[in-house]
Amino acid sequence: MFETLQKAPLDKIFALLGQYRADERPNKIDLGIGVYKDASGNTPIMSAVINAEKRILADQTTKSYVGVSGNRGFCDSITDLIFADTIDKSRITSVQAPGGTGSLWVIMQLINRANPGATVWVSDPSWPNHKPMLELAGLNPQFYPYFDQNTRSVKFDQMLAALDSMGPKDTVLLHACCHNPSGANLSNEQWDLVAQSLARTGAFPLLDLAYLGLGEGLEADAYGVRKIAQTCPEMMLGFSASKNFGLYRERAGVAIAIADKKPTADIVFSQMANVIRGSFSQSPDHGAEIVRIIMNDPTLRNEWETELEEMRLRVLTLRTNLANSLRKQSNSDEFDFIETHRGMFSLLGLSAEQVQRIKEEKAIYMIDDSRINIAGIPEHDTDQLAAAIVEVLR
Ligand code: LMR
Repeated sequence: MFETLQKAPLDKIFALLGQYRADERPNKIDLGIGVYKDASGNTPIMSAVINAEKRILADQTTKSYVGVSGNRGFCDSITDLIFADTIDKSRITSVQAPGGTGSLWVIMQLINRANPGATVWVSDPSWPNHKPMLELAGLNPQFYPYFDQNTRSVKFDQMLAALDSMGPKDTVLLHACCHNPSGANLSNEQWDLVAQSLARTGAFPLLDLAYLGLGEGLEADAYGVRKIAQTCPEMMLGFSASKNFGLYRERAGVAIAIADKKPTADIVFSQMANVIRGSFSQSPDHGAEIVRIIMNDPTLRNEWETELEEMRLRVLTLRTNLANSLRKQSNSDEFDFIETHRGMFSLLGLSAEQVQRIKEEKAIYMIDDSRINIAGIPEHDTDQLAAAIVEVLR
């Protein structure tokens, strides 16, 4: 059996994490995988999460099955958080899935059932797992123009022209906020135009929402999603609680569909539940239950929102500090974009060779396209980091 197989590539983000962990140099810096880190370099458990976990330990009386569609309180509170009262709730349906990736997986299976082998348009560049996931699901990934390497911003005219040329059989995958890897995001006016384009062409919107609250804030980051939900008859969305609740390893996510009317939403729900039962039967509950408890307790919710906002503001400070330091050390404004980008990432603009050199010579780890995780910047060594970046560029 196994002789027919060849070694499969490991996803580059996790491959880099393995290399970083194996590196014994004491001064090593991890700017690779997208996890939030505090000033001492730890990825903390949020205090609201610890308090919710205590309640689970005290109150939970069984570990029996929850059900195929998962923790309903979790799914409903996340749906409320994302959409608030902006659309008719009866059109929304949701299932719990293992993390953002699991949610996208369920959605991709659903798309392949509805439109086998469908073309799904992904931003160029995008999260490196989008394309392989789409291929694994039997779909056809293609790229639409997104990031301009020269201006370090969205090449919106080209993006919109590509969207305008699509049709009802196309699906468009959009990063709902905090674009990964570029850090360059759509303005509200641009979201309006994207939503109008999708409504006009009938292309199907698929949103990836993995960083809600870490860009401009909880409300502002939901602008694009809400606009599309209000403008287009149908859409799907994969939500991750990994970053904004710090629940990475607990795998808590929600796959959400919005249909034109309730009977269709019910059919979509049954199909998503069918995918889940046939794939992994149901999602792990612990992380979802933590989020459900937080979202339904005003004190814990306030504690979570306060901590999330602190994290967001800290990322902004790290952006400003790195941009300032690079401005001084390079004697140029070529890195000022770091300050205006939003979310956990920016693309520095280094070549793959320069990324390799900075890893070998300085023990600084970033993804080969020079994506850095801003939250991984060591607060007290920003100048050393900036100096290393400038040195490798010379
Ligand atoms: C990342 O982009 O680094 C994160 O979303 C982690 C992951 O699963 O790739």
